[in-house]
Amino acid sequence: MTTLRTPGPTLGVVGGGQLGRMLAEAAAPLGVEVVVLDPTPDCPAAPVARDQIVADFDDEAGIRELAARADVLTFEIELADQDVLNRVSEDSGTPVHPDPATLETIHDKLVQKRALEDAGVPVPPFRGVEDADDVREAIDDYGAPVMLKARTGGYDGRGNVPVESKADAEDALESVAGPAMVESFVDFEREISVIAVKGDDETAAFPIGENVHEDEILRETIVPAGSSEAVEDRARAVAEDVLEVMDGRGVYGIELFETTDGEVLLNEIAPRPHNSGHWTIEGAQSSQFEQHARAVLGWPLAATDLRSPTVSVNLLGDVDESQDAELRGVDRILETTAANLHWYGKRQVRPLRKMGHVTIAGREGETTDDLLEIARELERSVTFTAE
Ligand SMILES: Nc1ncnc2c1ncn2[C@@H]1O[C@H](COP(=O)(O)OP(=O)(O)O)[C@@H](O)[C@H]1O
Ligand SMILES: [Mg+2]
Repeated sequence: MTTLRTPGPTLGVVGGGQLGRMLAEAAAPLGVEVVVLDPTPDCPAAPVARDQIVADFDDEAGIRELAARADVLTFEIELADQDVLNRVSEDSGTPVHPDPATLETIHDKLVQKRALEDAGVPVPPFRGVEDADDVREAIDDYGAPVMLKARTGGYDGRGNVPVESKADAEDALESVAGPAMVESFVDFEREISVIAVKGDDETAAFPIGENVHEDEILRETIVPAGSSEAVEDRARAVAEDVLEVMDGRGVYGIELFETTDGEVLLNEIAPRPHNSGHWTIEGAQSSQFEQHARAVLGWPLAATDLRSPTVSVNLLGDVDESQDAELRGVDRILETTAANLHWYGKRQVRPLRKMGHVTIAGREGETTDDLLEIARELERSVTFTAE
């Protein structure tokens, strides 16, 4: 029997970025409190969380304090340290979800791809590379171009370098600096993602989203995706196989390629709510953040059905260098009654930094094309740059 009282259960979240902020927003109606740990004072989650512990993501004393205040620990960044989390969880008796071991699997993209391939999940051809000869050999085997990726530390496309020809191998490897892997360049029809949830003894998945990237960073998510029913079935099956490999409850963002011949290949996984699932806040029966809260607490999962066609667009830093964040001209967004604005509360804007997003859930008769047109126009109407 689950009993509500006040104050309610507390989630201790390692990381206090926009994901932590939206998690705290979603937890509040359930009577669930959130304490975040983040090294940046006044991090994005701070104004909506009950409290912030200012400490580094792997600061053991800080995580012990977090565990002492929490009923369950979770994380919203992949920089969380699995050894510290395991140790603290064991000593404090506060469980961690997902299992910190998933961080180990995910952290190194080569290890991640191997684990998934071993589990029978379809992935593009890939291999680890030590030197430029290995890269050139991969080009011989896969054909040019190939995608060179930093094995660790990459995000939002940082750490990925397309290599057009053998002559570029040396320079590309130098720019990655550190352990690297190569993937065959996928000729995709579209990118899609499944936001899947692992609960206590059930799983769930949101409708599949279509993701538009530019410069390898997510710009737009469109739901429903333009994929055929057969492709969507395949994507859901891949997502189920991925959940089998993952340990522990929570939301997983599963990035996929739909190839031009209708195959579904796994790109990568995030063991946490995912940018391509932000649309669920307004567009689905429950949000990925509510589901994450429910899942880590061991509560029943909520319904994931689509409410209506929905589009979300990211508001990225359109600046050349870091500066105080002032988003100019939000009037159009505010006046568009169907648009839902999410501002992440970051003090500084940097080139292509994720600063917020806008979601438009469609009304009667509106198609995703209609929504996309409005969303793009709204995105273009704001800027961080003073003219
Ligand atoms: N093998 C590939 N072939 C073609 N495009 C790719 C490949 N790998 C990555 N990309 C493109 O780069 C984007 C970012 O790559 P990803 O590995 O997901 O890095 P990140 O960790 O930065 O999200 C992908 O969403 C996709 O658009
Ligand atoms: Mg990615």
